[in-house]
Amino acid sequence: MAGHRYQAPRGTFDVLPEAARVRARIQDTAAAIFARAGYEPIATPIFEDTELFERGVGHSTDIVRKEMFTFEDKGGRSLTLRPEGTAPICRAYVENGMHALAQPVKLSYAGPFFRHERPQAGRYRQFHQLGAEAIGTDSPLADAELIGLLAELLAELGVPGVELRLGSLGSLDARRAYLEELKAHLRAHEDALAKEVRERIDANPLRAFDSDDEGTQAVMAEAPKLVERLEGEDAAHFAEVRALLDAAGVAYEIDPTLVRGLDYYTRTIFSFVCDRLGAQSEIGGGGRYDGLVEQLGGKPTPAVGWAAGIERIALALDESVEATGRDVFLAVADPERRPQALTLVGELRRAGLSAELDLAGRGLKGQLKHADRIGARQVAILDADGAQLRDMSSGEQRPVEVGNLLEEIAGGVA
Ligand code: HAM
Repeated sequence: MAGHRYQAPRGTFDVLPEAARVRARIQDTAAAIFARAGYEPIATPIFEDTELFERGVGHSTDIVRKEMFTFEDKGGRSLTLRPEGTAPICRAYVENGMHALAQPVKLSYAGPFFRHERPQAGRYRQFHQLGAEAIGTDSPLADAELIGLLAELLAELGVPGVELRLGSLGSLDARRAYLEELKAHLRAHEDALAKEVRERIDANPLRAFDSDDEGTQAVMAEAPKLVERLEGEDAAHFAEVRALLDAAGVAYEIDPTLVRGLDYYTRTIFSFVCDRLGAQSEIGGGGRYDGLVEQLGGKPTPAVGWAAGIERIALALDESVEATGRDVFLAVADPERRPQALTLVGELRRAGLSAELDLAGRGLKGQLKHADRIGARQVAILDADGAQLRDMSSGEQRPVEVGNLLEEIAGGVA
């Protein structure tokens, strides 16, 4: 009886080798940029205590209210598959006493994240982010450096149609007065608002800017804007971030309606959008989160960072990366030579060459055909008398001493 055929769970996908090559290029490019700028890699667990995200990301956010994959372990603890990376990294910063290191601590990461969202192009339930954080500085230089790194990554990869939107939420204290003003505006126009927005006037009024409801959008067009209300140090900080980006030649647009789906942001927020992505147009974004480390039990520690979606970058690039092919395929004309072939292929690999041998018990003809299919540039044939080396592009074949095979093959690669 045929067994049941399974499918990957809704909102997830397999990364097949062709897509994996594109993703490797994205991750390698990012890793090189991070390394040059001194953002050291960090990895945190895939699951954390549920409370970390409730407190860190915020009770009123969509992520915490609706999108977390939460489960109980056998000890009755509530755990959650990480929906984002910043709260875990701040937890790790506090837990590992990283405040004692030279500040800021500059970190980078890449890995899977989980949100129970309605799947569509560019939106998945398991997706992958790469990101960078600078923890322990409130300098606008850190904001500008980080924004510049993401701009550089997207440019170096060749992502087309990218725009940078910039905003500022001010510090937590300064924001309080503004939020009262915004709530009053929302209440005055309550009838025109979407139900969801109306229900969250008190809990999360800023998210009204993000609504795709037409009535709400009309109300928000007239709403007071936080960027226009910034004062004192908040205004100075934002002005300096802008001046630094101007000096660095990073183009941006101020977006007074920009808000983000996580509660921890303070001051600078930014979003890189791409016109090739349809509804899920944000390719990456982030901002400052000056209160998060303290909220998670650490000392007051300002910080800034971003994350970008690997799938969204790949979608925007819409490219394929050719498989590299093999330097050599080692064929055996005589099954007796198989042990020798296995030893030899090991030597070739240790010498830095990509080398394969037949794993399927094919005859010589079948092996040559296979070598061609996998894109081998040369084929070495071990036969009864010794060895032959064939150049697959010219078809030229000549006898070589078995003892000289390694040098001969390496010569054919150069
Ligand atoms: P976020 O905006 O929630 O921020 O996610 C960052 C990026 O992850 C998005 O711009 C998008 O490219 C990608 N992304 C988010 N959700 C999905 C999904 N369901 N499917 C595919 N891609 C997705 C954060 O997560 C913050 N931790 C960023 C940050 C770091 N802020 C400061 N430091």
